[in-house]
Amino acid sequence: MDRILMHSSRRSRPLISRPGQLRAMHAKRPVERRAILKDGREVISRQLRLNDAGLTDQDARSLGEFLDRTPFLCASSAMCSHLVGAAKSRDWALRDIVGSAIAPGHDVLVAEVDGKIEGMCTYMPVDEFGVNEALLMKARLVQAEVCVSTILVATRRIGIGTELKGAQMQSADNAGYKAIMGKTAASNVAMIGLTLKLGGIVDTEVEPANPYTLVPLQGVEL
Ligand SMILES: CC(C)(COP(=O)(O)OP(=O)(O)OC[C@H]1O[C@@H](n2cnc3c(N)ncnc32)[C@H](O)[C@@H]1OP(=O)(O)O)[C@@H](O)C(=O)NCCC(=O)NCCS
Repeated sequence: MDRILMHSSRRSRPLISRPGQLRAMHAKRPVERRAILKDGREVISRQLRLNDAGLTDQDARSLGEFLDRTPFLCASSAMCSHLVGAAKSRDWALRDIVGSAIAPGHDVLVAEVDGKIEGMCTYMPVDEFGVNEALLMKARLVQAEVCVSTILVATRRIGIGTELKGAQMQSADNAGYKAIMGKTAASNVAMIGLTLKLGGIVDTEVEPANPYTLVPLQGVEL
């Protein structure tokens, strides 16, 4: 296949009352990767760190600072709009991010450089987003085998996106997915370049102005 395709009445007590309980039920295999960036600094790509209250204090501070440095509209649209419709506030966005970090079939990964979060990506099951069926058929995949993802990097073109995406691919592979789907603007040369670099394909057939991307996971050939 070409790399670029042209073509209740009685309220019962909740079973789960704290994030810690949910996490214990759906423990995810930890992902943490280290690499050296083009500028010589080390990047750590990992899942968000959680405790019973939600995010650890350090990750809450660092994520808040990341959202401050990246324009909020950009952060909310790139990271959260698929989770909440249109993210209405920072608190709402953060709650969604924590929810994604906990929920089975979802994950949130961040790239940390010099102790600061410089990038974040999420993935989720396709049934909560919508999917390009034609692309799935071409790739001989079914919906349940594919997740949908977003990614946002603050300091670009030094390799953070590649590393973060690598960690996301490892987490999605651990979760049992076979490929990661995304959707981007045809003008987004960075996302299209990143997809192709990772062995993925870009489908310009269904929506030429907003192509879908598909990145295969371990052992899958597109
Ligand atoms: C897409 C994005 C995550 C890439 O992150 P990044 O850290 O800059 O990516 P990297 O430095 O690892 O680059 C990976 C590859 O992408 C391609 N690439 C990245 N930026 C590019 C650019 N401006 N022009 C052309 N190709 C580019 C290159 O192929 C690059 O590989 P190379 O460095 O070996 O040439 C980043 O640009 C971003 O956050 N964009 C805004 C949010 C967004 O568009 N998200 C995707 C839609 S959900």
